[in-house]
Amino acid sequence: MTPPLALYVHFPWCVAKCPYCDFNSHALRDALPESTYIDALVMDMQIQAPRAAGRAISSVFMGGGTPSLFKPEAIGGLLERLRAILPFEAGCEITLEANPATVERGRFAEYHAAGINRVSLGAQSFDGETLKALGRIHQPADVFRAAEELHTAGLSNFNLDLMFALPRQDVAGALADLTTALSLEPAHLSHYQLTLEPGTLFAAQPPPLPDDEIAWDMQGACHAVLAARGFAQYEVSAFARAGRQCRHNLNYWRFGDYLGIGAGAHGKLTRATDGSAPCIERSTHLREPRRYLASAAQGPAWKAVPDEDLPYEFAMNALRLNEGFEASLFTTRTGLPFARVESIPRALEKQGLMELVAGHWRATGRGRQMLNELILRFLPGRNSGVMAGS
Ligand SMILES: C[S@@+](CC[C@H](N)C(=O)[O-])C[C@H]1O[C@@H](n2cnc3c(N)ncnc32)[C@H](O)[C@@H]1O
Ligand code: SF4
Repeated sequence: MTPPLALYVHFPWCVAKCPYCDFNSHALRDALPESTYIDALVMDMQIQAPRAAGRAISSVFMGGGTPSLFKPEAIGGLLERLRAILPFEAGCEITLEANPATVERGRFAEYHAAGINRVSLGAQSFDGETLKALGRIHQPADVFRAAEELHTAGLSNFNLDLMFALPRQDVAGALADLTTALSLEPAHLSHYQLTLEPGTLFAAQPPPLPDDEIAWDMQGACHAVLAARGFAQYEVSAFARAGRQCRHNLNYWRFGDYLGIGAGAHGKLTRATDGSAPCIERSTHLREPRRYLASAAQGPAWKAVPDEDLPYEFAMNALRLNEGFEASLFTTRTGLPFARVESIPRALEKQGLMELVAGHWRATGRGRQMLNELILRFLPGRNSGVMAGS
């Protein structure tokens, strides 16, 4: 059975580089090469499409960087050209990531008319001083205005990105941010703990951050408010109102397929071989925008994933989900018999870190607190290891 096929489109430029961010994003120094980049994305799709011949796209995610630097006409034209290469399924979810400072008045209605039906807005915090400390180019008022415009434009299916454990933040501050975010009536909320990513300015010069215990308290207090307000947690950092989960991200976590176009974009495809086991391949692109543009005519580099890596790769995605996974999903997605890995969840079950509920294997509350270590147990030869604290 072939999994659903999503499409990720990467836009690598931002107005300024935030000091905590290790995404493939680059401060824009010259004019935005809008049409050159759109042409390269289309060529990229044309080169990759034969590998997905006969399949349709189930969701599209335009991420960054800051895709909202591109005008609605450019985004609309791009969607039309991509659709002509591979069809989009009826009701295809099409998300645009937006920085609240980059969207001029009236633009959301234009993005909607151009085919966007979901928006993800980088709010981060509603405290002006904190936004400054994070190097953000927007102010809280920009998010209020953007949310209002989204509702008016018929784009009420929007996500707010919020971070916590921010410089000088306390539990009351994290809760105040969340309460303000929820007052804007988003359909979805992503709640990320600020991490110091290697290679970023914050990693070299860390700001004063709350300690782990306070961060833990913030998370607990915020999760309780989210649950009380009807936002169910379905993944480590993702919360949604009923029926408003991000379908695109769910496809990643359920180990579905996706094409990746744009600088640094990754892809994953399942290809039927000779009727026996499927072959899973991953694609990578050059990250630096100029180098990507210069090489777009060659398409990405593809590499087959060895069978022995598949259980770990599957676990790395599926165990992020609160619902966990069914044994049958493991088999249809990896092509491997579940018997090959069953001893791993069984051993973790004995340690109180995984549980089998209504046919789904999932991490327990305690397992989620040490999710990375738990996932490592799915690596070849790691099942016998005794975990610290288990
Ligand atoms: C690719 S960014 C995109 C959105 C858009 N460029 C913006 O920042 O407004 C996705 C989200 O990841 C989160 N993020 C980025 N770096 C992070 C870090 N070091 N720690 C925690 N969350 C981070 C932020 O909430 C950010 O909005
Ligand atoms: S705007 Fe978003 S993608 Fe760009 S540098 Fe900041 S966090 Fe990263």
